[in-house]
Amino acid sequence: MANHVISRALAAAALTLPLVATPATAAPPQAPALSSVIPAPAQVTPAPGATFRLTALTAVKAAPAARKIAEQLARELRPATGYALPVLPATLPGLPTISLQLGGTGGREGYTLTVTPKQVTIRAAAPAGLYNGTRTLLQLLPKEIDSRTVVRRAWTINGGTIKDLPRYAYRGAMLDLARHFHTPAEVKAYIDEISRFKVNYLHLHLTDDQGWRIRIDSWPRLTAGDGGPGVDGEGPGFLTKAEYSDIVRYAAARYVTIVPEVDMPGHVNAAQVAYPELTCDGVAPPPRTDTEVGYSSLCISSETTYRFVEDVIRELAALTPGPYLHIGGDEAHATSEADYVTFQNRVLPLVKKYGKTAYGWNEITKSPAAATAVAQFWGTTTTNPTLAAAVANGTKVVMSPANKAYIDQKYDPSTPIGLSWAGYIEVRDAYGWDPATHLAGVTDPAVIGVEAPLWSETLRDLDDIEFLAFPRLPAIAELGWSPAATHDWDSFSARLGAYGPRWTLRGIDFYPSPQVDWQ
Ligand code: ACM
Repeated sequence: MANHVISRALAAAALTLPLVATPATAAPPQAPALSSVIPAPAQVTPAPGATFRLTALTAVKAAPAARKIAEQLARELRPATGYALPVLPATLPGLPTISLQLGGTGGREGYTLTVTPKQVTIRAAAPAGLYNGTRTLLQLLPKEIDSRTVVRRAWTINGGTIKDLPRYAYRGAMLDLARHFHTPAEVKAYIDEISRFKVNYLHLHLTDDQGWRIRIDSWPRLTAGDGGPGVDGEGPGFLTKAEYSDIVRYAAARYVTIVPEVDMPGHVNAAQVAYPELTCDGVAPPPRTDTEVGYSSLCISSETTYRFVEDVIRELAALTPGPYLHIGGDEAHATSEADYVTFQNRVLPLVKKYGKTAYGWNEITKSPAAATAVAQFWGTTTTNPTLAAAVANGTKVVMSPANKAYIDQKYDPSTPIGLSWAGYIEVRDAYGWDPATHLAGVTDPAVIGVEAPLWSETLRDLDDIEFLAFPRLPAIAELGWSPAATHDWDSFSARLGAYGPRWTLRGIDFYPSPQVDWQ
């Protein structure tokens, strides 16, 4: 890990040197162009010269339904500006203003952001759209807005209009809490960063062979012994129901919906260590700390299995306000094909029984019960006949092709953490595909979005999460949000290069890819 730390330190030094070398007489850097935003907005119309200047007199005004969003924005703008930025009722006259207004069109998540010399207006049909507009506004201010301490400079925003709305309704990230437990504080820090790029779902992989990370009251031994050791014995821990609900609330305030996953019928060794009756022979297996996959299976012929599964789904559904409950279903190599289908035929409808849309890895489409489910494609091929047939039958799809969207894979052979079974994934690889045409027979409108999974076999702390997620997470976020017509590597890499100093200012340990010209 030492090389890892040193290379990060060198990268950080390289990023700060050009700033130090800037002559004192140079003009202050301009505010970012409206076209610099990540993910690229649907429509940008600059109005040169119509600059807004944020000053000590600026107020944030909002209708009551937008007040929380206004307060978050003001909290984010105060540290670097040092301004009071009071949050006031929309009706109060006077003062230069950032105004958050509800009404108009653009769907649930779209917004219009207008910058004139007098006012910045964000208008949206719903609060989620207003929140998205505030994420854009942060990127239109000079990068020093991300400083944690006061910076004396002009806080200008270039004039013009951005009309924006998402290409896909589902723009996801996934974090694996099973192979290594990540604390609620780490999960919240990740939510803060992904929501900046308008990612609106966080899928938590809560159970696997090495650990069970969510309290289930009817099966309490699952989380006795800290929920299992994790890989190399370095990842014990679990979420209490109160902690899980607190994460759900924290995410919701940032317009991120939590998607819980309990993986079955494979990836269940930790559950079987706690409850040997979940094996067919009733013998508890030893706890596992290695990274093998595909060796464990629930006992498909046992009614105890279905009592367990229903209890878990019921308790998790009750804790989860979001629409999706992910039941895994991947790599069940220790379950026969016939048993697998028998299991899914019974379990997919159980998710619906508790009011949620069933969601699983693409193997679930072996069962006809997946017709009303969402399947997450994680293959490395560009054909999957089973999934394509399910799509023709109604199944919706989230695209996470492992050789493009798996942000736990190494960038190149020198990457100190991460796996490489799906290949090396540099930023350009993560960006260079189209969710609607990647997989034969799986096109819009069956595709509801994209997700960037981050598995934790080699992760230990928040720095590791950040190093693998950034800058690839924004690449996947842009594929999910921006119109296909805007997809352009030269544009994206230039925008990333300009964004890098913001991560540095926020203390985010991103990977300074040599493919990007970092400013
Ligand atoms: C997976 O990567 N096994 C879904």
